[in-house]
Amino acid sequence: MIEIRNLCMTYRTAHGEHQAVKGVSLDIRQGQFYTLLGPSGCGKTTMLRCVAGLERPDSGEISIGGEIVYSSEKGIWVPPHNRNIGMVFQSYAIWPHMTVFENVAFPLRHKKPKPGRAEIKERVGKALALVHLAGLEDRPAPYLSGGQQQRLALARALVSEPRVLLLDEPLSNLDAKLREEMRFEIRQVVERLGVTTLFVTHEQIEALTMSDVMAVMNDGKIVQEGAPAEIYSKPTGAFVADFIGRSNFLTGKVSSVAGSNGSSTAMVETKIGTMHCRLDVSAAAGEDVTVAIRPENVALMVDQGGAALNQFAGTVDTVVYVGNLIDCVVTVGAERVRLQLQPSAAVARGAQVRLNFPVEHCLALKQ
Ligand SMILES: Nc1ncnc2c1ncn2[C@@H]1O[C@H](COP(=O)(O)OP(=O)(O)OP(=O)(O)O)[C@@H](O)[C@H]1O
Ligand SMILES: [Mg+2]
Repeated sequence: MIEIRNLCMTYRTAHGEHQAVKGVSLDIRQGQFYTLLGPSGCGKTTMLRCVAGLERPDSGEISIGGEIVYSSEKGIWVPPHNRNIGMVFQSYAIWPHMTVFENVAFPLRHKKPKPGRAEIKERVGKALALVHLAGLEDRPAPYLSGGQQQRLALARALVSEPRVLLLDEPLSNLDAKLREEMRFEIRQVVERLGVTTLFVTHEQIEALTMSDVMAVMNDGKIVQEGAPAEIYSKPTGAFVADFIGRSNFLTGKVSSVAGSNGSSTAMVETKIGTMHCRLDVSAAAGEDVTVAIRPENVALMVDQGGAALNQFAGTVDTVVYVGNLIDCVVTVGAERVRLQLQPSAAVARGAQVRLNFPVEHCLALKQ
């Protein structure tokens, strides 16, 4: 439904040039919920603005529903109002001098040909019902709660029945609880309508819970794309392993590799000792790698001495209760390893313990 090929976009200001998007390609299927996730300034909003036609890229091609809306090579440029797109901006920008009804009716009143009064009323009513704002038509827009204003912006983006919905951090101004509710509501609304959605966020929890497919961006490029569970369990590089969830990182050198592509394991010499790791990328003996393991995958055992593969003795350094789990740091030699334990776990500062790093959760990544 949305195809982007090799998109590049540079901002030019009086202070110089900044290349915000550096050759991005992606495909979003009809009805898919696709998320761009990445740190502040990585180029997410710029990507959305290029798809909407609010920025002119330097080069590349964008097509929507099989129609090319931008191509540097073919000299094609379709203006924003002809792209049939609904957008919710990062600052969701509802119009404060209008009522709820007029905010949603606005895109229809500026459509050509303009629908009749009865049709406008019906379509606004439908859009408001969809986001659970029916009954508030006559209220001035500023007299809505933050969550209601957010939903109003969504209704306004959906009222023209766009083929594509672009959402730029639509939950960023909400408190934690409302954000969680809205995550669920947005997902339900777009599913009911079957509208293809390109969603932008820097919150990993939103990307992981809402997306069919997500792409992690860094510095104007996509570094990894896939289903949320795949990105979480099989990050291909240290940036993704660290940005999505938390990871412990241990640097080391590959001493040997076993198995073939896709299901290899490697022995890695780290500062705390030899670790047996999963290897999803290709690496040869002698190569420097980073071993990533998530805090929830490190197991704590009583230290009974002896040696076993992927087990290391250490000392409990900090223990912090975080309600539903215990956040704990264990020093192993000069390394500090973070763990997450069940709240019932008996663990005390200063205790001598043994850590177990299960092979399937130790990922050797290229540096
Ligand atoms: N109008 C502009 N003129 C010049 N530089 C810009 C302009 N808009 C954005 N940039 C720069 O381009 C880069 C990408 O910006 P963009 O807004 O796409 O980031 P983002 O990923 O949406 O970040 P955030 O999560 O903070 O919203 C940033 O370095 C930013 O400073
Ligand atoms: Mg942005």
